[in-house]
Amino acid sequence: MNNETRNNYILHNASQLLTLAGGPQRGSRLGELGILENSAVAVRDGVIIAVGEFGDLQRDFPSFSHLDAEGHVVMPGFVDPHTHLVWAGDRAGEFDLRLQGKSYMEILNAGGGIISTVRATREASLEDLINQTRRRAQLAFTSGTTTMEVKTGYGLTFESELKQLQAIIELNEEGPLELLPTFMGAHAVPPEYKGRTDAYVSLVCDEMIPALYKWWQNQHPQRALPFVDVFCEKGVFDLEQSRRILRTAKKFGFPLKIHVDEFESLGGAQLAAELGAVSADHLVKTLPEDIKVLSKSNTVAVSLPGTPFGLNEDEYTPAKALIEKDAILALATDINPGTSWCESMQFILALACRKLNLTPAQTIAAGTINAAAALGQQHRIGSIEIGKQADLLILDVNDYRHLGYRFGINLVSTVIKQGIVYPIK
Ligand code: NIG
Ligand code: FE
Repeated sequence: MNNETRNNYILHNASQLLTLAGGPQRGSRLGELGILENSAVAVRDGVIIAVGEFGDLQRDFPSFSHLDAEGHVVMPGFVDPHTHLVWAGDRAGEFDLRLQGKSYMEILNAGGGIISTVRATREASLEDLINQTRRRAQLAFTSGTTTMEVKTGYGLTFESELKQLQAIIELNEEGPLELLPTFMGAHAVPPEYKGRTDAYVSLVCDEMIPALYKWWQNQHPQRALPFVDVFCEKGVFDLEQSRRILRTAKKFGFPLKIHVDEFESLGGAQLAAELGAVSADHLVKTLPEDIKVLSKSNTVAVSLPGTPFGLNEDEYTPAKALIEKDAILALATDINPGTSWCESMQFILALACRKLNLTPAQTIAAGTINAAAALGQQHRIGSIEIGKQADLLILDVNDYRHLGYRFGINLVSTVIKQGIVYPIK
């Protein structure tokens, strides 16, 4: 990817500088963009070191070069806190079947769905897996995503889960998109354990999680542990099985995430709050009592509107109710080959405006600072504040509301990752 190496510069001439300053936005605070007009950002060695009037920054940093935003919107890079980016193959045939009336769960229970991607991913070499995934990572980056969470879960044996993890780690090292890994050995019950879910749960708890912990300590002792996630859903892992897996992970110190209420409500949102999960994700069929408990906790509610859209279903996350009860709401793509093959957070924002009834400002906060909180990274990314990583976007519009309003095209003209400038157009 082409870039302009610049170490120290002042980004100036933004029509609107969306700072998103002030930390994660709970409840009715959602949508505080912290807009500054006539303001500039000084970047040194990949870090934001000053925000203020261009004249003042020029005086304070006379040796810095200047990067002209040409009267356009400048904002933090998008954070995508829920993805299944690493897989092999595609499921175009299944999409066709679904349009002919088969349901997602019917296809999964007949050995298709996630399981067909598991077969393809197990067969792929690490190199092939990385090559297939790189293209999607590039599309996400050029669409404005600067940090992304990525799950395993298409291997379902320790070795093949590790292969996915290695793909995530290698692609992160390649950059420029930053990837944070999640172990999701409990994404589905593999074919060899069909009808023996409890035995598979034991394998995950007694062997995979301890082995992962050991591997991580050996290979990446300096890095934070990955997240551990479970698909808590009827016909996949029930509430007790999910609790068992997450409790085991918690004992080892892994931070937790959980897929809940995508198709049916099992009470997983309350489990997330009970275990102090960093996030509870999907939240479509969530009941009022679960909304209440989740909203009182620090667990971020991650909505994935690309999924019901991708499945052509009518029900979406009750985002208004979550906001009213004071939850921290975030947005993500859920990019995966089955339900939501969408690299673009911009499209997710457009969907959230229409299907979750959010304003553009609310979707921007949900896709930046709150999305960073869904990864426990709010201290480092997700806003334009002194000391934060310089992950920034220049849009080719002068009014932020074009995000959400417009869809199906790319409004990002420049992506800045850790201070390095990548012109997109
Ligand atoms: O988030 N819910 C489980 N996982 C994905 C779907 C994965 C797939 O179909 O391959 C989701 O929707
Ligand atoms: Fe998912």
